[in-house]
Amino acid sequence: MSKYNRAAVTTGLSAPYTVDFHDRIGSTNDRARTLAASGRSGVVVIAAEQTSGRGRRGRSWAGPRGGVYLSIVLDPSLAAADTPLLTLGAGVATARAVREAGVPAGLKWPNDVVVRVVDGRAVDPGTAGNAGEERKLAGILTERTHGLVVVGIGLNANLSAGDLPAGATTMRDLVGPVDRVALVQRILAEVHELTTDPDTILPAWRDLATTLGRRVRVSGDAGEIVGTAIDVEHPGRLVLDTPDGRERIAVGDCEHLRPV
Ligand code: BTN
Repeated sequence: MSKYNRAAVTTGLSAPYTVDFHDRIGSTNDRARTLAASGRSGVVVIAAEQTSGRGRRGRSWAGPRGGVYLSIVLDPSLAAADTPLLTLGAGVATARAVREAGVPAGLKWPNDVVVRVVDGRAVDPGTAGNAGEERKLAGILTERTHGLVVVGIGLNANLSAGDLPAGATTMRDLVGPVDRVALVQRILAEVHELTTDPDTILPAWRDLATTLGRRVRVSGDAGEIVGTAIDVEHPGRLVLDTPDGRERIAVGDCEHLRPV
């Protein structure tokens, strides 16, 4: 397996990003924000270890050595209001790369890459019904700053779930050690392709979604809503059928519920 460093990631990278590689860093998103503040875009910050990684809604994100932690500074041709589309795009990119590496990942709205685990094995979310448990494999943190967008991706690659918060799983636990260089290069190629053609993002997200068709509880600033997720619409709103009618939700935490 190749070494995980700047030279390895840069060699053969098809996406047109400059690589800013760190052996250890607080948060790749923080470093990416600093670069964005000086007007740099088209750069990806990667760290082998993160000591104060940030998650959505003010949470922290564990960053032990072995995971993939990266943040891309993008200058997208999208209106600021359409930024959530990039979160969905990064999810699609990550899920596709993970699937190519042998883990049948799906997407949970708005920003989770998940795997259904039955008896310790990852099974295709489309075929497994409600058997086993859905576990989180990766998360996305998207931030707008200085007119640019930072898309941060944390992926539990060569880690053990025992070192992570409850509810997480890792690629190594499911299929053995993976090549992080190949994984990162694939993620970056997919991000580049999807963000250059943003119209492809929603259809690709729907194809990989585990949320659609499910009963869900979404908690956001306006409280909790329970309903059936029927679609995701531009620029990333979840559409729910609820007993009180149709709801469209832009921001929130989504929990997949068992059918009643
Ligand atoms: C979430 O699911 O809450 C989002 C987690 C995002 C974590 C990644 S790790 C790389 C990048 N740097 C950070 O500090 N956070 C993101």
